[in-house]
Amino acid sequence: MLLKVSGLSVLYPGSGEGYVLEDVSFSVNDGERIALLGANGAGKSTLLLSLLGILQADSGKIEVDGVLLEKKNLPLVRRKLGLMFQDPDDQLFMPTVYDDVVFGPRNYAENDGNSADEDSIAEAADRILEKLEILHLKNRMPHKLSGGEKRLAALAGILVMEPRMLLMDEPSAYLDPRARRRLISVLETLSEAYIITTHDFTLAQALCNRCILLYKGWIRADGPVTDIINDKKLLDECGL
Ligand SMILES: Nc1ncnc2c1ncn2[C@@H]1O[C@H](COP(=O)(O)OP(=O)(O)O)[C@@H](O)[C@H]1O
Ligand SMILES: [Mg+2]
Repeated sequence: MLLKVSGLSVLYPGSGEGYVLEDVSFSVNDGERIALLGANGAGKSTLLLSLLGILQADSGKIEVDGVLLEKKNLPLVRRKLGLMFQDPDDQLFMPTVYDDVVFGPRNYAENDGNSADEDSIAEAADRILEKLEILHLKNRMPHKLSGGEKRLAALAGILVMEPRMLLMDEPSAYLDPRARRRLISVLETLSEAYIITTHDFTLAQALCNRCILLYKGWIRADGPVTDIINDKKLLDECGL
């Protein structure tokens, strides 16, 4: 099992309004692709951030690839999970796309106490950029790219780290139809398991077989994506 979440509850500090996530439990197997649906404020982003320990849970247990999420395991867990932020501008911060893609591998090599093997890092970066068909963007400034190009550049920086699982927070938001189709076709080719939060039912159906529906911090439904998306009553009850 790749991911096991048991009884996860999260209370935002100072919110005083109860739980943002309450008693959330689910598991993910290798290669599974999950659409995480829910109205605004349902707790989707909170759930993704909790899986990485960026937000601290108040109770519950998270295991990633057999490693328990706790303070001493944080670096190991974060290495196994690749998070794509909701806003790619939060992800891309180096002067060029290439610098952004090699930032993670260089950093990890240094943290491991090895000197970074520049040749193999450069090779891996080129391979990923090529795979995502954005090698031509290598020397461009990230903040000057289009929305769709930024998404793919951010994805390259995540894939180069070879995570076991990807977590993507509304990846198709703000993309024009063509960039959105391109993103879908790229995500289609990945072999990694992933969780995508989205309001985009077409994307959810094109990429995912399973859907988890959050409503006010609870898992309201967990099942085949087509069943849930076609259940108008259920979606309506969940504010979608
Ligand atoms: N930093 C924060 N402090 C307090 N409350 C927050 C914070 N971020 C989000 N929330 C609240 O937590 C709930 C879930 O938010 P979020 O996980 O962002 O939902 P979603 O991603 O599904 O739209 C919302 O009620 C939101 O207002
Ligand atoms: Mg969100």
